[in-house]
Amino acid sequence: MDVARIVGEIIGLVSIEQYGLVGVVSGERLLVSGLREGATNVYLYDRGRLVRLNREPVSGVARPPRGSGRIVVFRDVARGREQHLIYTIDPDEPGVERPLPGMEPARLLGVAYDDEVVVYAAATMEGVALYAHRGGGGTPEKVADLPGIGFVADYRDGLAAGIIARPDEPGRFRLFTARIGEGSLRIHEPPEEGSVTQLAIAPDGGVVYALETPRGARLYRAEHGGASGRLELPSPGLEEYGPYSFNYLGYTSRGELVAVARREGRSRVFIDGRPVEAPEGIHGAVTDWGGGLAATYTSLRVPPRVVRLPGGEPLVAGEVPGYVADALGGVGFHWVESFDGSRVPTFTLESRRAPRPGPAVVLVHGGPFAEDADMWNVFAASLALLGFHVVMPNYRGSTGYGEEWRLRIVGDPCGGELEDITSAALWARSSGLASQLYIMGYSYGGYMTLCSLTRKPGLYRAGVAGAAVADWGMMYELSDAAFRSFIDIMFAGRRELWRERSPITYIDNLREPLCIIHPQNDSRTPLKPILRFMELASEKGKTFEAHIAPDMGHAVNTIDDAIKLILPAALFLARQKEAQTTQG
Ligand code: 4NP
Repeated sequence: MDVARIVGEIIGLVSIEQYGLVGVVSGERLLVSGLREGATNVYLYDRGRLVRLNREPVSGVARPPRGSGRIVVFRDVARGREQHLIYTIDPDEPGVERPLPGMEPARLLGVAYDDEVVVYAAATMEGVALYAHRGGGGTPEKVADLPGIGFVADYRDGLAAGIIARPDEPGRFRLFTARIGEGSLRIHEPPEEGSVTQLAIAPDGGVVYALETPRGARLYRAEHGGASGRLELPSPGLEEYGPYSFNYLGYTSRGELVAVARREGRSRVFIDGRPVEAPEGIHGAVTDWGGGLAATYTSLRVPPRVVRLPGGEPLVAGEVPGYVADALGGVGFHWVESFDGSRVPTFTLESRRAPRPGPAVVLVHGGPFAEDADMWNVFAASLALLGFHVVMPNYRGSTGYGEEWRLRIVGDPCGGELEDITSAALWARSSGLASQLYIMGYSYGGYMTLCSLTRKPGLYRAGVAGAAVADWGMMYELSDAAFRSFIDIMFAGRRELWRERSPITYIDNLREPLCIIHPQNDSRTPLKPILRFMELASEKGKTFEAHIAPDMGHAVNTIDDAIKLILPAALFLARQKEAQTTQG
């Protein structure tokens, strides 16, 4: 095994620049976020040049109102514990950051703003609330308590709009609106069964939102004080496409609705319902700019970049080294039958460095309300470089396949979704893709790795559990108000299941080599339950290795963070593969 080559190739892969469109600010300049200069930074794209605006790396950047004269970023100030502060930057004064006066560090759940007001949702140990800073030197005021996990998505003329998940309606996402001046919060009843997943405030002040229903996703429009009605668009293209979800909603400078709609892991761009020619894959934010459109675009072979539409000509893009492009083989999409007859939408990425059948890794996404799609995945690309085919099941609970599939995980973690993942693994073998099977995942995917190794011993040769859940009860004790709500939502309040659904309960079953990787300061999946898992594994003589990633939390904000997670996983899997090959 050529360790130096593996390390060099992985560092080269992780260092590929990634870009996303954020919006258009004053002077019709594009605001772009970039994984560049070793971390996530914010840039103005002006006449072919990138000008960095922030001084220190950021955790995120808010969507600016079109033509805004200020940029709003936020940053973790607690070494990865996700205690954030907000800063404003004047695009004409790069490098000068002004902290939002009087803000206390807290877990941010969305930020939106205009030239006077900044609104944000934040979680503390006590609760989740909506706050507003109304300009000048004053301090932020609490607008309303949010009964669950609430995210602010947009703000315009005194109205904030967002999405809330409440423990009393486990798994559902509702629209909320709040009038900042009055402190009035309204959680809207859905017009039909479904969940709200994207929204934008229209130029006339109405809230346009996507409702995901068991029959697909539809656009509605609501007022703070009124009922919701279906949104009628001038062109039928969007309706004919039949989307299952939406990635983005926004408005052009001419007041047309921009919608990025998605089905089966790929998306399409629509302006007022009319399709726009775009490359195959996933599109993020889209805005009118320079006489056409600018958009974020990515696929399993293309790292996120900013492109021009129609067409897809790159505007701001990283270079992909030749050895990476050469190692990435075909992308597949398959419906895999599960134990109960349901079909699991599964992506595959073949490695050109592996025979067929060859060693394969079942790579399990986190969330669980997320999905593997035709979009860049640095873990998947690393595995292809190492000579593994990659199998990415969208197990029940995943987004993108309708409300019914997503809700099937609620109240049953480490239940049906584990069977879906197992079915995808067995399919990979029976379909001729995989010889030996391995499993790897981060966060909820790390939990699924521990569940697989302890509940399905003998199926995989080895597993990598990153930022995994090992013990729900211990995790709940260490969680803030947002994640306590989340755990209650995942279990639909059935706390009596915590023990039965915790991998630590089945540690005696662990047979295959396990690589544990865990951020030291993770405040979503805290380290302590994993330390307990390691202690027990050690007492019981299990084969494992463990890597505590220093000075970082759950989120990956820098190249160094990504290296801390991926390099130990890559070396572990390469060694396991080599051991299998030499054993024959
Ligand atoms: P994720 O992390 O997979 O990155 O979203 C998680 C954190 C907490 C929980 C699940 C996943 N939880 O259920 O509390």
